Amino acid sequence: MRLHTPLPLHISGAPARPLRDAALVGGGKRAEHYEIAAYTTLVAMANALDRRDAADRLQEILSQEIATDKKLDGLAKQLLPLANRDAED
Ligand SMILES: [Fe+2]
Repeated sequence: MRLHTPLPLHISGAPARPLRDAALVGGGKRAEHYEIAAYTTLVAMANALDRRDAADRLQEILSQEIATDKKLDGLAKQLLPLANRDAED
């Protein structure tokens, strides 16, 4: 099973830096969403097994993954207007 979609390396010519960076941010978001799904499941499993210690630690990691995803959202918001402008050139 494939876990991620490849970055759009098929863009013709040398990609503009903001566009390439936006694509990398998209790749990072895919990884974060995968991790969020995994840790959400692990927290539920730890709770179902009444392993409060493990659930608390896993929840901390899940919160870090969510925070990273939000940081990537901020980067994307900065990069996408620049990438769009470069695409028009
Ligand atoms: Fe992560």
